[in-house]
Amino acid sequence: MSLNNMNNKAVLFVCLGNICRSPLAEGVARKRFADAGLAVAVASCGTGSWHVGEGADRRSRQVALEAGYDLEAHRVRQLAAEDFERYDWLLAMDASNLATLRERAPAARHSRMGLLLDVAGVDAVGEVPDPYYGEIDDFRQVRGLIERGIDGLIRRLA
Ligand code: 4NP
Repeated sequence: MSLNNMNNKAVLFVCLGNICRSPLAEGVARKRFADAGLAVAVASCGTGSWHVGEGADRRSRQVALEAGYDLEAHRVRQLAAEDFERYDWLLAMDASNLATLRERAPAARHSRMGLLLDVAGVDAVGEVPDPYYGEIDDFRQVRGLIERGIDGLIRRLA
């Protein structure tokens, strides 16, 4: 998947619930893309509908605030058919999220999807694991992986 000419593009981060991982990815990307001077629009969604309309998970909000990101305005939304047209890149947190994207997307859009950490060139990790049933330190680990992923995207765009 090529990330050439990403300026003025739009990226959608995708996880299962849109309460833990993808809101963090959106928050980290919004701040770090802006700090890097990249005009890239960011958003997030979940493949599932359980939490639609809720805010981000309390633990994601906490680990975000600890590191200077603000998820307080986040509201959960579910992946919609229009997203495959609206976003230039759809970056999944884990292989299951990516499989769901591929099932729901027109085949012509498959080349615009990938795993965040793969696309970012973060070696030997692959997935951002689901922290929902974990502890606060699992959320801090997720935050660290996402920060590496976003920094990798920025390096590939530089
Ligand atoms: P996320 O985490 O996909 O990172 O938002 C989850 C949130 C909710 C559920 C699973 C994962 N759930 O089963 O409700």
